[in-house]
Amino acid sequence: MPLHVNPADPSRPDFVGDVADIDLRNADDSVRRAIEMAMDRFAVLIFHGQLFTDDEQIEFSSRFGSLGISTISLHPDHRQRFDSRLTDVSNIDIDNKIVPPTDRRWNGSMANRLWHADASFKTLPASYSMLSARVVPSWGGETEFSDLRAAYDALSPRMKTKLEGLVALHSMAFSRAKLGFSDFSPNETKTHAPVPQPLVRTLPRSGRKTLYLGSHAGEIVGMTVPEGRMLLHDLTEQATQREFVYRHTWKVGDFVIWDNRCTMHRGREFDMSEVRDMRRTTVNDSVPA
Ligand code: OGA
Ligand code: MN
Repeated sequence: MPLHVNPADPSRPDFVGDVADIDLRNADDSVRRAIEMAMDRFAVLIFHGQLFTDDEQIEFSSRFGSLGISTISLHPDHRQRFDSRLTDVSNIDIDNKIVPPTDRRWNGSMANRLWHADASFKTLPASYSMLSARVVPSWGGETEFSDLRAAYDALSPRMKTKLEGLVALHSMAFSRAKLGFSDFSPNETKTHAPVPQPLVRTLPRSGRKTLYLGSHAGEIVGMTVPEGRMLLHDLTEQATQREFVYRHTWKVGDFVIWDNRCTMHRGREFDMSEVRDMRRTTVNDSVPA
């Protein structure tokens, strides 16, 4: 079944596709294959008017692989609003009250505003993330995406040679430390042991090369900590120049799929006294990076 996909920004025809006329609740395997093919080209797909229930979102997402479990559910104090295969990206708690700045969920919300790739701190990181907008604030709260394939292509030959074979260490402890946050439960500390990931990877389906970066990357194997961090900083700056970035302004019912293997994303500021309810399913990759 063909998808009707148009580039969201005509000046970047191979990044971010806008998909028309489809109800993903009725998706079958031919839709899954069509989405995977479109993802190979665009890396981010935007669907509109997708009024999923939680179960329907889980069922749709499960067609693409096994689903990751929300990391916040590892904390003993956390009272989950729903099934842990859905990550709660909202700013409300189980009683539908807006979380205060003292709540650790608030920290999670701040951490989402750093450029990152979901679950890059896991040995089998996320391939696709799928985010459903249920309630959106009156201003702000956009999500930006950076194309790490295009950013890699634009590197100098000298830099490409330098990056060949380099390995970065990823941990949630690195990204949380950037915001001054270190209050982890023993269970969380275990999952925060640094995980090695290649800094450049080849995408198995399209064969394109891409950087693999994000806030969880904190060191480069074989470099001093400052040297590694500076390299990660420079590459992130390069990859997040406007020419590689797309900004999505959410409407209720929008459903966005992105490929964490070749993009970074970040949330943008909004008025935290307004509700923003977003729910994410996260597909585990089937092979290591
Ligand atoms: C996510 C995420 C950013 C946002 O859901 O993984 O980082 O804008 N979201 O909510
Ligand atoms: Mn994220």
